[in-house]
Amino acid sequence: MNDVMSFGVHRLWKKYYADLLISKYKKTEKILDIASGTGDIFQLLPFKKNLYAIDPVEQMHRVSQEKNADKNIQYQVGYAEKLPYKNNFFQIISCTYGVRNYENRQQGFKEIFRCLKKNGYFLFMEFGLPKANLIKKPYQAFLDYFLPFSGSIVAKDRHSYKYLADSIKAFPSPNEVQNELENIGFTHIETIDFLSGANNIYIVQKK
Ligand SMILES: C[S@@+](CC[C@H](N)C(=O)[O-])C[C@H]1O[C@@H](n2cnc3c(N)ncnc32)[C@H](O)[C@@H]1O
Repeated sequence: MNDVMSFGVHRLWKKYYADLLISKYKKTEKILDIASGTGDIFQLLPFKKNLYAIDPVEQMHRVSQEKNADKNIQYQVGYAEKLPYKNNFFQIISCTYGVRNYENRQQGFKEIFRCLKKNGYFLFMEFGLPKANLIKKPYQAFLDYFLPFSGSIVAKDRHSYKYLADSIKAFPSPNEVQNELENIGFTHIETIDFLSGANNIYIVQKK
């Protein structure tokens, strides 16, 4: 889905994102990837241990286990909204293309805050709507027509691709997301946008 959505460019964005994560990481600390899916992020990390993954779909973990067989990753089946970890446990919590899927985003952010150590970082990457007028309209058309159509051809699953388009349109703007995070107690560090906001990386800290 991410490949269709981004014409494969999400792989470059993930590499950029993983390098940012590595730059924030203190050796020997713990990293959690939420909505870890098939484990793409772990493949891009040079670390072999202190890695944790949570996703509600067990089948995703099985694929990740095959892809990351050389790594010691502790897998959990579960949701961001109810993390099965102690308070102040992780130095880094990460989530790529998952926040949009949280049923209760506020609750997910609260749980992430609870499980992060003081001075720990929460990084996430999410699709969004471009700000520039020049690409805003064509992008809306891409989401409304091209995405569901290509989904029906590539994956024979129009419904899921329609959901993807709708969830991107419903996702709040970076300023709104930043306010939500700050209301929970996070300190905003940086938001990095690609293609005028079609893809955003958010970096916040628990100070
Ligand atoms: C688009 S995939 C992203 C997977 C992976 N992070 C990546 O970048 O390739 C979204 C993932 O979110 C997971 N997910 C859905 N709802 C969730 C929730 N409430 N908490 C945690 N993960 C969730 C899904 O099972 C799915 O694996």
